[in-house]
Amino acid sequence: MRSSRSLRRLAPIALLAIALALAACSDPQTTVDPKSDFADDIQFVYLLTFWLGMAVFIGILALTIGLAFWYRERPGRVAKQIHGNTRLEIVWTLIPVVLVVVMAVPTWQVIADSSKPAPDDALRVNAIGRQWWFEFQYDLDNDGEYDDLITANELHIPAGRPVTFSLLADDVIHSFWVPQLAGKVDMVPGHVNDLWFTPHEDAARAEAYLGQCAEFCGTAHANMRFRVFVDTPEGFDAWVANEQADGAEPADELAQLGQELFLTPVWTLPGGGGGILGCTGCHTVAGAPGAVGKIGPNLTHVGSRSTIAAGILDTNFENLVAWISNPDREKPGADYNDDTARFMPAFETVLTREQIEAIAVYLLGLQ
Ligand code: CUA
Repeated sequence: MRSSRSLRRLAPIALLAIALALAACSDPQTTVDPKSDFADDIQFVYLLTFWLGMAVFIGILALTIGLAFWYRERPGRVAKQIHGNTRLEIVWTLIPVVLVVVMAVPTWQVIADSSKPAPDDALRVNAIGRQWWFEFQYDLDNDGEYDDLITANELHIPAGRPVTFSLLADDVIHSFWVPQLAGKVDMVPGHVNDLWFTPHEDAARAEAYLGQCAEFCGTAHANMRFRVFVDTPEGFDAWVANEQADGAEPADELAQLGQELFLTPVWTLPGGGGGILGCTGCHTVAGAPGAVGKIGPNLTHVGSRSTIAAGILDTNFENLVAWISNPDREKPGADYNDDTARFMPAFETVLTREQIEAIAVYLLGLQ
């Protein structure tokens, strides 16, 4: 008795705590605010299934409560025994069959629609999953070569125009998912999956749509994110023009020093025990002599991206210094130091703090 009374007293407090916790939730990765035709279709199937399920839930609950009330034990009433009821059995078999058909037909329709080839005027992009970041290669002139523009972890697409992705992977299986736009479709090594959608005309906004790898792909899977910026057509053209330009020349002496350090091919380890590759062993900066590495993200316009390290750090001086100093410390699970297949050394072992700061200034200037 006492415990149930204290439970009753605790219930409002628990409810208040849940309400406060929910009020603190923002919803940048919501799946119920679609901003493309593909996401609309998924939303339609989801809501259809949800409301049918809700109708079944309420119907069963009402029947359970109603029957328990109507047929409760009453003095003088004796329960009537029955053996089978064919009509009832037909009804409760038919109702689920009808519900499943009502859900299945539109689901098949959506699957068939999303499997159709993309329209000819679609913007073509290769999206490549890597441990643990995304590369995006654009075929802007539609010549079958995805070499017109290469960027990493941040994607720009124009509102109102279809965009078609060839989804690829370099090492293990990843998955492309932008809850408000499209997905989840796996990125499988040695196999191309296609995915296309048209962002709504009014989907353009300054804020990014958040994307996320949706297939467990190793210890840093949770830190493999990307951002999709839906631009106005004019905004997209301006972004393309900027991205196709060479990397900016250093603006001052410090950036100049940073560029020289960035372009140094090999660093000797302290004590002379061999060397490690410099930045250009893995990274490209278009126009900078010798900066043609392809293993890591293309950095030609890294200063203009809102984040670094696959969406986990804001692009700013402190984060760039921290990242170059020791990426493993900033991205738990990446083990970039230990794994030669995705080598990003802790440059604090070969460079001074001042040298790393100069490189960060140079990179920030690559707008
Ligand atoms: Cu890539 Cu999970």
